[in-house]
Amino acid sequence: MGRAEVVVVPHCDLAAVSAAMQSPIPGRRWLVTESYFSMDGDGPDLGALREICNRAGAALIVDEAHALGVFGPRGAGRAQRRAWFRCSDRTLSKALGAQGAFVSGAASLCRWLWNRARSFVFSTGISPWICDVTETAVELARAADAERMTLMGNARALREGLSRQGLVPAPSFAPSCPSSSATTVLLSAGLSVWQRMAYWCRRSGPQRCPKAERVCG
Ligand SMILES: Cc1ncc(COP(=O)(O)O)c(C=O)c1O
Repeated sequence: MGRAEVVVVPHCDLAAVSAAMQSPIPGRRWLVTESYFSMDGDGPDLGALREICNRAGAALIVDEAHALGVFGPRGAGRAQRRAWFRCSDRTLSKALGAQGAFVSGAASLCRWLWNRARSFVFSTGISPWICDVTETAVELARAADAERMTLMGNARALREGLSRQGLVPAPSFAPSCPSSSATTVLLSAGLSVWQRMAYWCRRSGPQRCPKAERVCG
């Protein structure tokens, strides 16, 4: 959309990011990343990315879609330190259960997006009642530090339980429990039993992400 030349680097590979920054492409550099990859259960070292960007004179854009409400004090996300990013977007549709999104950044950047970002300019605005609901959702999310600890504890317990069953999930610092396709299929039947026990278990696997081999609970 921005007509920039796109360079894709391997997942969470800081050396590859550094190397890409050395490439002789003229013009401004922007590094765009998610702060938490929900399908992989991991995320980049944002401080390290910030340093790479500083050295290369690049701007860091962080997508906090899956981090808002889940990580950090008051659920502010993983990029809470303002100095780490030039621009960050956070969707309201995931942990906050509403709709829409917002961008944090310099006033000049926000004004520019307001006037020039085509997909924003030509989209219908959010309805006032969704804004109202969102305000309440933000208040609830801010006050939910205890629930966030419970969430992480539950995820840890799930991973440990799966490991004990020999269904070793890949390491993850967050609620996702990434695993292989075979394990996904094996677990999908079992999950329905867990749901009857009042656990909220969702499988997200190859149908939604053909190349991914993961299950997220
Ligand atoms: C990484 C990421 N960013 C942004 C979005 C946009 O979310 P929405 O269109 O619901 O605001 C999504 C949706 O899944 C996402 O996965």
